[in-house]
Amino acid sequence: MHAHFTAWQITNYGAPEVMVPVTRPIPTPQKNEVLIRIHTSAVTRADGMMRAGTPRFARLFLGLRRPRNDLVGTGFSGEVIAVGPDVTRFTLGEAVFGEAGTQFGANASHICHSQEGVILPKPATLPHDQAATLCDGVLTSWNFLHHVAQLRAGERVLILGASGSLGSAAVQIAHDIGADVTGTCSAKNAGMVAALGAAHVVDYTREDALDQAAQFDVIYDTLGVSSYANAKHALTAQGRYVCPVLSLPLVGAMLRTSCFGARKARFSATGLLPPDKLRQMLDAILSSIDAGLLAPVMSRSYPLSDLIDAHRHMEAGHKRGNVVVVTDDS
Ligand SMILES: NC(=O)c1ccc[n+]([C@@H]2O[C@H](COP(=O)([O-])OP(=O)(O)OC[C@H]3O[C@@H](n4cnc5c(N)ncnc54)[C@H](OP(=O)(O)O)[C@@H]3O)[C@@H](O)[C@H]2O)c1
Repeated sequence: MHAHFTAWQITNYGAPEVMVPVTRPIPTPQKNEVLIRIHTSAVTRADGMMRAGTPRFARLFLGLRRPRNDLVGTGFSGEVIAVGPDVTRFTLGEAVFGEAGTQFGANASHICHSQEGVILPKPATLPHDQAATLCDGVLTSWNFLHHVAQLRAGERVLILGASGSLGSAAVQIAHDIGADVTGTCSAKNAGMVAALGAAHVVDYTREDALDQAAQFDVIYDTLGVSSYANAKHALTAQGRYVCPVLSLPLVGAMLRTSCFGARKARFSATGLLPPDKLRQMLDAILSSIDAGLLAPVMSRSYPLSDLIDAHRHMEAGHKRGNVVVVTDDS
């Protein structure tokens, strides 16, 4: 085993260039922890927001003046190479994937992770790159469509941003639920969004999908490009507007709709749900993947040493599906 591991550090919030590569002694797993050699890790919009410290109110959780935990990266996939004395759920050599959450440090060659956290055995048929991204778009959209919006078969759902990480997973999940799916994307992604299961595709650069009144039971605004106020008229009488991007107008709409009216606005911070609940959702997701009903859309893969370039691409706002970095010597 190497005595040192490589990772990326941030000591201040800012642009991708604030990240610097670091080398540290590989930690010994605590009683309940496994040490994982990471093969692939995800580069997500949430990672970019945490690196930039935006929105500013997020610094209450991340660290007011500078990041409380100084390594970056959340989603990972790799192999268990050491276990603490109390570990029962995993064995040496087992392939695993998961989410470091606010502990961070997944864009690295190694990480220690509690067996009680968000970590599951990786099926042999699921490639590391797909597994590393599952806790971003797929898990979030599963939570939003199944639990937050409670989308049902036969309902009409509009997915704003259907070509991104959350959107490309949402189209597949909504289609599998049996909903009638409309997705928005630009012309270059229309074929992909239709192939994922959207019955109707709207080019957001030419048309406004919210133009017609009372057409959707659920509007899932994956990017926060609209608002409850803008979308309300396009919802049916019992319609739900759900959005994973928190903003003051969304908080206001949630408060108002929780007291008045049958239409609702809802948000959830998926990564902050209890780990056992997230593991249950991931189990259901793995069954869907195994049944061929769902697969994360992969676009670019970078070497871990090019993490800054990967962040620049992710942050431009036009990635298709998911972006990953692969550990250099794996
Ligand atoms: N609350 C939670 O639990 C949670 C969890 C994870 C992520 N999030 C948040 O969810 C958000 C979405 O992340 P993501 O990774 O899915 O985004 P993403 O992958 O970066 O989205 C990029 C895609 O959006 C498309 N797009 C850009 N502007 C658009 C518009 N106006 N209308 C329709 N499509 C548009 C782009 O297509 P073109 O190239 O054609 O423009 C591109 O394919 C982020 O803000 C993230 O922080 C929340």
